[in-house]
Amino acid sequence: MNIKIETQRLILKNYTENELEDVHKLKSDPMVWKFSTKIATTKMGDSKIYLQSVLKNYNESKCDFQALFLRDTGEYIGEAGVLSFNNQNNRTIVGYNLLHRYWGNGYATEIIKGIIKHSFEVEKVERIEALVCDGNVSSRKVLEKSGFIQEGLLRNFAYIDNRYINVYYYGIIKDDYIE
Ligand SMILES: CC(C)(COP(=O)(O)OP(=O)(O)OC[C@H]1O[C@@H](n2cnc3c(N)ncnc32)[C@H](O)[C@@H]1OP(=O)(O)O)[C@@H](O)C(=O)NCCC(=O)NCCS
Repeated sequence: MNIKIETQRLILKNYTENELEDVHKLKSDPMVWKFSTKIATTKMGDSKIYLQSVLKNYNESKCDFQALFLRDTGEYIGEAGVLSFNNQNNRTIVGYNLLHRYWGNGYATEIIKGIIKHSFEVEKVERIEALVCDGNVSSRKVLEKSGFIQEGLLRNFAYIDNRYINVYYYGIIKDDYIE
């Protein structure tokens, strides 16, 4: 899978091996993973394994996170993308993680809207889903500002830090989409 999405301020494109340092900045920032089913790592080796698995998925025509850059400066600001594609039912799951110094600028909303547009208009996807851990207020806001509807609350869905947490399930279907 090799999609490139450009919005007014952002470019989303496949990771390359050149982004290892950037990936490690993201993976080692505890603030990024606070409301996530994943945990931060201090080991560069873990970040390398992650990046290699993403590149392997691209090679096997599977989708995964892609690298997100500012158009003006080329700075890496995080990752976003289609994480899985259910071919039979024509639905996808999306995700996004930004380095915390770039939060609060509307970037996540901008790229999710870009992914939605591309998914419905170009890929002819029927339904897009996203999951958000309880407490992640800003992520829920991103989805709601982008047109997602909260469809459910998955109780005790994930076991993190010795406790079960609830996860919100969001969806947007083609009929909800307004260009
Ligand atoms: C979630 C995340 C991607 C949001 O990125 P972002 O670029 O800051 O998002 P945006 O600026 O597009 O929108 C965030 C919204 O949440 C709001 N917000 C942020 N913190 C908030 C809080 N504690 N309470 C209420 N609203 C909050 C912002 O004000 C903004 O809304 P507004 O535009 O109406 O003012 C970013 O915080 C992040 O990467 N977090 C860590 C990883 C993560 O949680 N990923 C998502 C997993 S589901």
